[in-house]
Amino acid sequence: MLVNDSHLTTIWVDETDQEIKIIDQRLLPHELSIVTLSTVKDVEFAIREMQVRGAPLIGVTAAFGMYVAALEDSSIEFLNKAADFLIESRPTAVNLSWAIKKIKLEISNIDQQNRAEHIFNIAKKIREEDISACSKIGDYGFELIKNVYDKKNSTVNILTHCNAGWLAAVDWGTALAPIFKAKKNKIPIHVWVDETRPRNQGFNLTAWELINENIDCSLIVDNVGGHLMQHDQVDMCIVGTDRTALSGDVCNKIGTYLKALAAYDNNVPFYVSAPISSIDFNIRDGISEIPIEKRDPKEVSSIWGVDKNKNIKTISIVPEKSKSINYAFDVTPSKYISKLITEKGVVDANEISIKGLKD
Ligand code: MRU
Repeated sequence: MLVNDSHLTTIWVDETDQEIKIIDQRLLPHELSIVTLSTVKDVEFAIREMQVRGAPLIGVTAAFGMYVAALEDSSIEFLNKAADFLIESRPTAVNLSWAIKKIKLEISNIDQQNRAEHIFNIAKKIREEDISACSKIGDYGFELIKNVYDKKNSTVNILTHCNAGWLAAVDWGTALAPIFKAKKNKIPIHVWVDETRPRNQGFNLTAWELINENIDCSLIVDNVGGHLMQHDQVDMCIVGTDRTALSGDVCNKIGTYLKALAAYDNNVPFYVSAPISSIDFNIRDGISEIPIEKRDPKEVSSIWGVDKNKNIKTISIVPEKSKSINYAFDVTPSKYISKLITEKGVVDANEISIKGLKD
């Protein structure tokens, strides 16, 4: 999508030196910094420290991580160790293990001297497929927005949580893809952007994406959505998912569940948008089976931003010696989800429909 009117993706292979490049998302929206991933340690750091984040992008980055690992040492022993090392970097987004398992399976019969090149080709394919899946998600989700517009004939108000835009994937994004397509099709839209404490992906990333695409948006703190829904100011919610269980339960950024409850209470459609690579076909129940990442409590007790001289700063916002706990995700039970938007179409959040998405 666009950044200062130029097209950019979140991860790419540099045409001149063939190195893997990413945007360091920790610095957005204040600095656009490009980083090179040369070793498996660089890749593990990028995922763990959230230079890259968002389930689809974590999967694509991990695939390139296996490639740079193979450049270091292409023995199966080393690659297995690299795979375990990468899988442990973040526990919740299933795309990470999905991409690594796919690579391990596809290289099982490949000679050692050809392994790195083979993994490189698989990683590039996973990247391309993610772009195509997100674009299709955008097309299917656009129809849902258009239906609302056709009925109401005025601006469609959409609420989103966290960042499930192109920064969370390679391009287009998941929850924001239908919004980008609606804009391109000239449907008047307005987006309510949840702040998404503690890392503020809504303010820092979603707002930045929407502003770069000239999409009207208003930034709200995390507890405003319920009030807006009670006053008919939200036509639909669209969020992403880091892992969807067979039951249709979805695990997404902390706070998603409360938005779904408010939407249900106010008859606001609640859509969850994601590629099929975010479905965990081995897990039936989201609440008991999806591992929830607990992150550094410092993310809760401090806040990050720029001062009036544009210097980036982190400041404490709690009493000294206070204790904080940082759960990064929660699970929204399927009964609160109107539909899942996937690259194969819009489906019900239940086991029969989800099994139908498997190849
Ligand atoms: O911790 P993050 O920023 O990696 O989490 C990402 C999310 O939870 C997003 O909300 C997103 O919907 C899932 S990935 C498209």
